[in-house]
Amino acid sequence: MSENITSQQPLKHIAFIMDGNGRWAKKRGLPRDHGHRFGVTAFETVLKHCEKLGIQTVTVYAFSTENWKRPPKEVETIMKLMDHYLAECEKKIDEYNMHICFLGDKSPFEEKRRARMERLEKLTANKPRVLNIALNYGGRDEIVRACNALIASGARNVTEADFAAALDTKGRDDPDLIVRTGGDLRISNFLLWQCAYAEFYFTDVLWPDFGPAEIDAAVEAFYKRKRRFGGV
Ligand code: IPE
Ligand code: IPE
Ligand code: MG
Repeated sequence: MSENITSQQPLKHIAFIMDGNGRWAKKRGLPRDHGHRFGVTAFETVLKHCEKLGIQTVTVYAFSTENWKRPPKEVETIMKLMDHYLAECEKKIDEYNMHICFLGDKSPFEEKRRARMERLEKLTANKPRVLNIALNYGGRDEIVRACNALIASGARNVTEADFAAALDTKGRDDPDLIVRTGGDLRISNFLLWQCAYAEFYFTDVLWPDFGPAEIDAAVEAFYKRKRRFGGV
């Protein structure tokens, strides 16, 4: 039995809490917006490197339900960067090889953005790899929405499987590894249900500086862990 309880199962799903953009900019005497712009470049580099490593699913925390507390101008910059990235994906859809899935409540978004998000989810549905983008995502919000969906469906008694199927991540594997950049040791409302048996990796590296060498270090650390899932 114990030989099955090992970290040597392949790492199929990495999730990133992409933190530290603002501090990266501040260190350089730049406005926070610049940090977010360079953050997008880091995100693209990370996606390429994860593909090279054969990682099937990448999840990124792009904007939390709490991030609306930020100044409107910063929120607008983040949304514009997201719109730009998604527009580019749509343009290059034939070369794009990931199934984009959004985690989070789409309802507050303006119609144009929401329509593009839904279109991309459909257009990329047959792509071989998965990219989950958590946008207006909060783990608590996701759990409450799932509860309300189950109540609305008339459910009176649910199993863990029923509950998982009501989450934004329905049908998808839980993350094997959650990486947080930026030095803070917290989860900040990310994947609260799905992180039950994830391995955590924290680094002080700020997100715009995060790249292939840092991913390799996180993956190496992952393979040194012993995952017991409650066993011995
Ligand atoms: C992460 O970087 C990006 C988002 C939360 C959208 P931050 O903007 O939180 O950067 P810091 O943590 O302030 O440095
Ligand atoms: C977490 O970072 C959210 C994202 C990376 C999108 P925050 O910067 O919002 O987290 P806190 O406020 O430091 O916990
Ligand atoms: Mg932050």
